[in-house]
Amino acid sequence: MRVPAAAIHFPEEDRQQILRQIDECLQSGQLTLGKIGKELEAEFSVAHASPHAIAVSSGTSALEIPLRVLGCEGKEVLVQANSFFATAAAAVSAGARIKFVDCDPATMSLDPAAVEAAIGPNTVGVITVHIGGFIPPAIRDLQRICADNGLWLVEDAAHAHGSSLDGEMAGTFGIAGSFSFYPTKVIAGGEGGMIVTADDAIAEEALIYRDQGKASFLTNDHTRLGYNWRMSEPHAAIALAQLRRLDEFVAHRRRIAARYDAALVDGPVTPLAIPSNSFCNYYKYVAFLPPSADRTTVKKRLREEYEIGLSGEVYEQPLHLQSVFAPFADGPLPGAEELCARHICLPVSAVMTDEQADLVVESLQSVLVP
Ligand SMILES: Cc1ncc(COP(=O)(O)O)c(C=O)c1O
Repeated sequence: MRVPAAAIHFPEEDRQQILRQIDECLQSGQLTLGKIGKELEAEFSVAHASPHAIAVSSGTSALEIPLRVLGCEGKEVLVQANSFFATAAAAVSAGARIKFVDCDPATMSLDPAAVEAAIGPNTVGVITVHIGGFIPPAIRDLQRICADNGLWLVEDAAHAHGSSLDGEMAGTFGIAGSFSFYPTKVIAGGEGGMIVTADDAIAEEALIYRDQGKASFLTNDHTRLGYNWRMSEPHAAIALAQLRRLDEFVAHRRRIAARYDAALVDGPVTPLAIPSNSFCNYYKYVAFLPPSADRTTVKKRLREEYEIGLSGEVYEQPLHLQSVFAPFADGPLPGAEELCARHICLPVSAVMTDEQADLVVESLQSVLVP
């Protein structure tokens, strides 16, 4: 591939540092819930300006834990329909009755009017997702609607490490935020996730839930229906090395995105418009195909004729159309369906070159402009 869809980057010095730390873990025997995890939590909380950061086993558990703490069993939770399976699955696992809500395709985020219309007597909260790392200004409307209706707002910030709006960091707009360190993410930990919150009680409970619901590390009294949601020390070492590169990785991604923006002013695809007060980490660079173009054909031609891999969509099929969520589906959601059908994600990574970005644009021109 001349331009891979994504690339995971561990500079040599980081690999050496990670190996040294893993070796220390092996020598000390402290392989989980140790000092590297604590270091990761401390640095993540500073990087995201959040008083608490709790490291867990995955982005999925980073969502499920706060939902369990918030107590949504048997209650209704509004979930953004254009998201990854885990957003809804975590809520279902926490016992919620989920209701899918449409997005505004122009922001890829929840449509505030649709949220307002969906609130019912049994609704307790809303899960919003920063798709592609973009936090739209409309999150202010969501905050207001939640406050006015006594609902909590939880952010699925799995895509949004280092993103902000008006200087406010991802994860700090609601009662809790969750991040993922899955290998495709802006920072990769192998597996892992992080909960951020300013709420002392949620932070305290999250520590209990992540370690099998035990009241404390040294007792055997299980007071909550927790699970093994711990992060191992080797995973923490990998995530920590990546976290220390976050600013550098995001700056590089933003430079590639700016190059795409400049080159695509006159088409042939229309980039998602991101206002200047929103600092996007460009986990994904989203653009819209002209209505006449068929996405599958475009992707196939780019791959086969130009050796360019477009990354996976965010997402190809909305949640209300996923078979497993059929019992929760309640009619069409045209915004999410249109967004999912029409967008593409151009390659972007922390190591992509300007020449590669130019090649992507030239190849798109060749494929889309007769
Ligand atoms: C939007 C979203 N939410 C949740 C998750 C779950 O994260 P993880 O795979 O780390 O469990 C992911 C990532 O895969 C995601 O993209």
